[in-house]
Amino acid sequence: MTTLDTRTTMAADEAAAVISTFRRHLSSGRASLGEMFGGHLEDRSHGALVYTRGGVEYLNCAGYGVFILGATHPYVTDAVIAQVRTHPVSTRILLEPLAAAAAEALINVCPPGLTKVHFVGSGTEATETALKMARAHGKRRLITTVNGYHGKTMGALSVTARSIYQDTFRPLLPDVEQIPYGDAAALEQVLKDGPESCFILEPVQGEGGVIIPPAGYLTEVQRLCRAYGCFLIADEILTGIGRLGRWWGVNAEGIEPDVMLVGKGLSGGVIPVAAAVATEKAYKPFDKDPFLHTSTFAGAPVAMAAAKAAIEAVIAEDAVNKASTTGHLLKEGITSSAQRHRPHLIREIRGEGLLIGVEAHDAGLAGELVLELLDARVLVNHSLNNSAVLRLTPPALLTTDEADRLLSAVDLAFAALARRFPSAR
Ligand SMILES: Cc1ncc(COP(=O)(O)O)c(C=O)c1O
Repeated sequence: MTTLDTRTTMAADEAAAVISTFRRHLSSGRASLGEMFGGHLEDRSHGALVYTRGGVEYLNCAGYGVFILGATHPYVTDAVIAQVRTHPVSTRILLEPLAAAAAEALINVCPPGLTKVHFVGSGTEATETALKMARAHGKRRLITTVNGYHGKTMGALSVTARSIYQDTFRPLLPDVEQIPYGDAAALEQVLKDGPESCFILEPVQGEGGVIIPPAGYLTEVQRLCRAYGCFLIADEILTGIGRLGRWWGVNAEGIEPDVMLVGKGLSGGVIPVAAAVATEKAYKPFDKDPFLHTSTFAGAPVAMAAAKAAIEAVIAEDAVNKASTTGHLLKEGITSSAQRHRPHLIREIRGEGLLIGVEAHDAGLAGELVLELLDARVLVNHSLNNSAVLRLTPPALLTTDEADRLLSAVDLAFAALARRFPSAR
């Protein structure tokens, strides 16, 4: 037996044990998915690459959009390790200098008008924070968009507009209206005849299947919200920190929401952290009373070290511009590849920056494409609220070689799919 054979056998034995433990103690569903994806175990990661225990290397376009800086970025990792060694979690009595520094770093890159930060540990908690802020201003009715995704805790789930995630947990928050995404007239209609409201909106819908709104939509939303006194939450958890090739999705039309939600990339891909960033006026109820909305680990120094370093690294690496340039190149390459290999299987390639959606003709084909891409050593996510759409969210620091490798892998996967499904389904 060669060294490689021994390593492969040991990895297979370990994988079988891990799958069995997942089945017994974590989730039988995850265990089955893991098996379907080849039974590999994640071991280590660096930049755009993830390695399995057996030594297989994957190009990471998954992670639900977290890895704008890739994995284990040295600047963020060093900052976090230093903080872990000195003071990772705070007393909540004395003030934390790193929270102040992280808040300042974040505010400095936010749209004008957003000057207050409430740090939390996950995207869904950022949504909860913003919904509570809206309630504190008397906005009792919540308006969300069809297929919008804002998290899965009870408040956030109430505005995550997909019944398969909601139905098991009803009753959710009352007074929630769903309107079609990208339809300003529908917003006006509900605002006209309703009580005091709050509208939560993704600048580009992510889990809904990478849906880009029509030009002028965000501006019109802001105009309507101002005209009708509606509290506006921009959910930038996926789209922010450069993912779309600009700092924030709302930059496209320069709108200024009451609250903006930040997550994913803020972690630097190292430590979970998210935030709700608000205007002075929106934040007022939280400002006065520091105990009104709290959580033990919120703003923990180790998370603050990650957030501050992540923002600094995004600036130092020019990651926002790189996301734009690399995003254009990848979208063009993937589009021409899809056209070459039987376009009957792929409905559309769309996206902005490094949020790229590949819409297959049906969810089954999208699933097959995920498996073909796995065979070609590329990891991608499907869209939770639109199963026919795969999402590629590679890091902004992708090298030219890695970008070429990604395009070749996608081309191989499209070709393999076209061979297996030679005619339209
Ligand atoms: C737009 C948006 N909002 C909120 C969330 C929830 O964030 P988390 O999964 O960190 O709770 C997500 C996660 O995918 C998201 O894409």
